[in-house]
Amino acid sequence: MMRPMKPGIGTGRSIGLPPRARVTAAGLAVLPLLLAACGGSHTVAEHPTWADVEPILRADCLQCHGGSARTTGNVGDVVYRFDFFDVTPEICGESAATVDGSAFAAARAQLIANSISSDSASIRPRMPPAPSPALADWEWKTILRWTQAPAKGAAPPGNRPPTVRLVNSAPSADKRWTLSAVVEDPDGESAIGMLTIGDFKFNLDRPGAFVSEIDTSQWPAGDVSVQAIVCDGWTSATYTLGSIAVAHR
Ligand code: HEC
Repeated sequence: MMRPMKPGIGTGRSIGLPPRARVTAAGLAVLPLLLAACGGSHTVAEHPTWADVEPILRADCLQCHGGSARTTGNVGDVVYRFDFFDVTPEICGESAATVDGSAFAAARAQLIANSISSDSASIRPRMPPAPSPALADWEWKTILRWTQAPAKGAAPPGNRPPTVRLVNSAPSADKRWTLSAVVEDPDGESAIGMLTIGDFKFNLDRPGAFVSEIDTSQWPAGDVSVQAIVCDGWTSATYTLGSIAVAHR
């Protein structure tokens, strides 16, 4: 169907947009060149570190190999989580336990290399799977170089620790208490955490929202404080989120 042309701006090349947004055929022809120039401005670091690789994986892989990997990026019981270089108790404290058993990027570098390359130019690499667009040259080159010597390196400059907050939590509990928490990273990285209420532990094994009904009927009466540690793989932070007055009728 033809777009109706506004009288007065019809140069024959206008595509029916208001005058300011008008793009001429000549202008359109320049676009691919500009885009190519932008793509080319991504240099491939000689010795890429995790700070170079993580944003690429975040854009192209983590929708399947991030916090949902247990169901979207697994091979049987093996959960491939490439949102972290690795996860250690030294950096992430107690929250490391929430992702026990996952396979992280550094230890699976060779598999990652295999998944994004192919033996022949006519065979599309397996990852990311179609219909996702294939990786740009600078992306797979950066990842591939990194897999040859998987270095963690320094955190991105100005990296901030993740945050965790409770949402609309009741200040008191008798038999049940609804936990509603949100884990976020201000830099858009992945994050994990562990929430502790007295002896009770709750796994925050990904960024995002968590809601859970907790049976508090056996909890001793009194005030109990809600604490959490959250970690983005570079650094962790602990928060005191409030307290719950437990009382049984
Ligand atoms: C749309 C979801 C999706 C995306 C996006 C995705 N993967 Fe996967 N990936 C899977 C699934 C599902 C499996 C397990 C089944 C399989 O091997 O096909 C998998 C398996 C893997 C494996 C497991 C080992 C192997 O070779 O069998 C690696 C490594 C891998 N992906 C790397 C990547 C990388 C690197 C990216 C981004 C460049 C990526 N994947 C993007 C879904 C995805």
